Amino acid sequence: MVKNKKFRKYFKEYTVSNVSAMIKNSRLAPTICEEKLTGKLLVITGATSGIGYLTARKYASMGANLLCITRNPEKSEKLKTEIEQEFNVKCNYKLADLSNLKDVSKVTDELLLMQEPIDVLIHNAGVYLTQRELTDEGLEKVFVVHYLSSFIMNYRLIDKLKSQQNARIIMVNSEGHRFAAWGLRLDDLNWEQRTYSGLKSYGSAKLAQLLSMIEFDKRFSNSGVSINSMHPGAVKTETGQENGALYKWFKRNFLDKTLKSADLSAEALYYLGASKELDGSSGKFFNLTTEEEPTPPALDKEEAEKLWEKSIELGGL
Ligand SMILES: NC(=O)c1ccc[n+]([C@@H]2O[C@H](COP(=O)([O-])OP(=O)(O)OC[C@H]3O[C@@H](n4cnc5c(N)ncnc54)[C@H](OP(=O)(O)O)[C@@H]3O)[C@@H](O)[C@H]2O)c1
Repeated sequence: MVKNKKFRKYFKEYTVSNVSAMIKNSRLAPTICEEKLTGKLLVITGATSGIGYLTARKYASMGANLLCITRNPEKSEKLKTEIEQEFNVKCNYKLADLSNLKDVSKVTDELLLMQEPIDVLIHNAGVYLTQRELTDEGLEKVFVVHYLSSFIMNYRLIDKLKSQQNARIIMVNSEGHRFAAWGLRLDDLNWEQRTYSGLKSYGSAKLAQLLSMIEFDKRFSNSGVSINSMHPGAVKTETGQENGALYKWFKRNFLDKTLKSADLSAEALYYLGASKELDGSSGKFFNLTTEEEPTPPALDKEEAEKLWEKSIELGGL
């Protein structure tokens, strides 16, 4: 019943121009930003691979110091050594498995204790799963890694970021939010009442992040803090490695051949974090660096409010 109501509501709001804009924007190159960020601090999740790794390198090459939130000690140490030697900036890391809410809470406590301002915060870590997995806390993993962990961090950092009067939050989102075409199922976030699908769970998590942006943007209004989301392009990375042999074979032999270089994503994420052209711009979705309207479910203010309440409950906030 609820599902049918939402279908009718969103169906009326969908337009062909929304989809054609997405196709057109996906062909555009990102705007390049030449402005330096010397001595500024980037906090980034998932910097040990793919988009996050190249983005960390890009910021370091432009003079920013890095604090990486990562889960693998060996990869993190290697990243730190590489960045510090190559770019002569500071690169520290804090270990956290973002599918574990205790780790999310601990790493957020550590961010709150830091005296140094966070100039740019990029939520990038992500996972693509073809089979449903639950976290230690019994929540669907894709939802937690992509959405709930970033929600908790943003929520708890509101006062710190506002007191700085200047910070940019960027959420690495996806055109994949379109897979949740008829909205979120707030009554079934754990996929117990539906058949699980990798694309749909991924789409739902990304949609949730876009809905949370509506609420965070309200809370940051006139504070000097901005929050934006972006699609980083369809790019070749390590994503999907947690899945079975068949998926990995398909990705390697077919999918990867159609994908672009993740250097594009890193350039876009640098522009969004550093360019003065974006001063005062918040609550927007970008396809690389082109502003774009997301789908109707991602603009649903009523649903955003409901999700906000649910997330506070799930996050124990
Ligand atoms: N690739 C694309 O075409 C594409 C398109 C749209 C959106 N995106 C988004 O881009 C972001 C980055 O993805 P990617 O393509 O660069 O994938 P990737 O190469 O697999 O990188 C994912 C990063 O997230 C980290 N990570 C995964 N699960 C984690 C967890 N539980 N706790 C902490 N860190 C975790 C990984 O850590 P490890 O190194 O330890 O594995 C890795 O550093 C994701 O949000 C994804 O949804 C990608």
